[in-house]
Amino acid sequence: MPSDTHSKSNISEAKIPNPHPPTLPTKKIFIVVGARPNFMKAAPLYEAFKEYPDIQTSIIHTGQHYDAVMNKVFFDDLGLPKPDIYLGVGSGTHAQQTGAVMLEFEKILIDQRPDMVVVVGDVNSTIACALDASKLNIPVAHVEAGLRSFDRTMPEEINRLLTDQISAILFTTCEDADKNLSKEGIPSDKIHFVGNVMIDSLMKFIERAKQTDILSRLGMVSHAASDDLPDTHKPYALLTLHRPSNVDDKDTLEGILSALNLVSKRIPVLFPIHPRTLKQIRQFGFEDLIWHMDDPRGVLLDLSYQKVITMPPQSYLDFLNLMANSTLVLTDSGGIQEETTILGIPCITIRKNTERPITVTEGTNILVGSNPEKILSEAYTILDSGGKKGRLPKLWDGKAASRIVKIIADSLSP
Ligand code: UD1
Repeated sequence: MPSDTHSKSNISEAKIPNPHPPTLPTKKIFIVVGARPNFMKAAPLYEAFKEYPDIQTSIIHTGQHYDAVMNKVFFDDLGLPKPDIYLGVGSGTHAQQTGAVMLEFEKILIDQRPDMVVVVGDVNSTIACALDASKLNIPVAHVEAGLRSFDRTMPEEINRLLTDQISAILFTTCEDADKNLSKEGIPSDKIHFVGNVMIDSLMKFIERAKQTDILSRLGMVSHAASDDLPDTHKPYALLTLHRPSNVDDKDTLEGILSALNLVSKRIPVLFPIHPRTLKQIRQFGFEDLIWHMDDPRGVLLDLSYQKVITMPPQSYLDFLNLMANSTLVLTDSGGIQEETTILGIPCITIRKNTERPITVTEGTNILVGSNPEKILSEAYTILDSGGKKGRLPKLWDGKAASRIVKIIADSLSP
């Protein structure tokens, strides 16, 4: 039985038309995420779509990464909502993983027929979902298109090449990428140089990230002698390593870890470790080459550093904080090469090539491959002389997502 209040409000609503009727979404967009490096690219896009009430945006998570530390903590830090649809495919060989995503995502596409599928980056989930959508004639937008390492032994290079060929709209982070796409025959009217969505996230969250307590939890803060003076942090190097080319071959991994252990005699090397790398270290019997901390809280205060210090993968904000305060970063990740360029932190990339050459030509990045002597000598050079100073690449200004979303919205309007 409705109350009087309800009855009255119903009558008044009927008499006075709402001057601002809500816009009902008329278009439906899927944003696909699967693995850790996708989340910080999807978050600014999801946020920017909120400016377009006629577009309904859903997050589809393939489940390629599923551990809380690789997955949920990023949704929390980035303010991403729980995925609308979770496919739960998990790990496997490339064919198993790509195939499992395709089988599951196709069902959703047939059922829901979105107007566009947005994929980001170069992971197996990216190509799997792009393939599904394009075969159902649903346009695909690829964010971070055109990057090329020209190394087809990398699974990501295959994913990048194929995703770009079947995408209807291609968004690039740098002008090199536009050239790569043109050389591969992609018409120029499909290509839009918009900047870097990963940097949108970095710029949005960096100040909040610097407030996290990760440095004190790791014993990396020196407390000032008096209350008037600020605390300072101790110097350290930050390491990430997970590429199959570096961690799947026993001799290569042993050489890299041995070089890094020599670096750690001069400066502590903090290593939030990817699960596949920890698995490989255990399988090869290399536990004595690392100092593994499941919970490093407080333990490091008086450690004499002789080995790299591994710890579980860190959240987005804690990792940004660790990067921003480090003396030097050593990595084989793609995104970290870009983030260190923006933060002005010297970056040694433990790969022989990069799909992000702008981080070398304009940024703070140098490529050293996996040769132990080269890793060691470049690390020492940076410790002795401070390393490269870079400049900010064009359009890496924190506004890439709004440019992308405007172009997508225009392309969907009748
Ligand atoms: C994937 C991407 C890579 C990206 C990386 C970031 C591809 C081909 N590779 O590599 O480009 O740089 O993500 O992390 O898509 N595992 C877990 N828990 C998880 C996820 C993975 O334990 O939540 C372990 C499993 O043993 C799994 C292995 O890591 O087999 C590899 O995971 P997978 O998603 O196949 O590739 P990544 O190496 O993470």
